[in-house]
Amino acid sequence: MDAYEAIITKRDTREYDGRPVAEEHLQRLLRAARMAGSSKNEQPIRVIVITSQAQKDALAECGDFTTHLPASPLVIVVVRVEGSRPFDAGRAAQNMMVAANALGIASCPVGIQHDDAARKVLDLPPNQIVAMAITFGYPKGGGRPQGRGDRRLPLADFVSFERWGAGR
Ligand SMILES: Cc1cc2nc3c(=O)[nH]c(=O)nc-3n(C[C@H](O)[C@H](O)[C@H](O)COP(=O)(O)O)c2cc1C
Repeated sequence: MDAYEAIITKRDTREYDGRPVAEEHLQRLLRAARMAGSSKNEQPIRVIVITSQAQKDALAECGDFTTHLPASPLVIVVVRVEGSRPFDAGRAAQNMMVAANALGIASCPVGIQHDDAARKVLDLPPNQIVAMAITFGYPKGGGRPQGRGDRRLPLADFVSFERWGAGR
């Protein structure tokens, strides 16, 4: 799978089989996150790898749409330092999810709305903020991660040229 296909076929998938994510695959995801660029190369991002059931259960309590999180084999929490740009966290997160898709690993971002609770669960220093949790796993039923179709705006509604709303 080339890079374009890994990007274009990525769909957020919440159902995984029970297999743990292989260590060599985990290492690739972590390296993909590490290599994401950041503003002024300040590298404000860190990640926390979670595989224990106790931590998954506890983290699931910190978000409002987390029902699939406890049964996910791997959760990676993207953390950013206070004052950093959310864009940097997004780059690291998407790097991991695209790299995962190329390895046949499905994933889904999970919002963590209850920051204070997450801070306690993760033992975060005061200047660190949870940007996003991401669940990963080999897709249920085998094969490639199955998404829910295209589900995006038509390209013509998405793109303007030269000015907002202008066509070519
Ligand atoms: C910022 C952000 C937060 C999200 N939070 C959640 C979440 O808390 N729980 C969840 O199940 N999916 C979550 N998602 C996944 C979205 O529902 C998903 O990206 C969207 O439905 C598109 O899915 P598709 O790629 O399968 O078409 C989140 C996605 C983003 C980008």
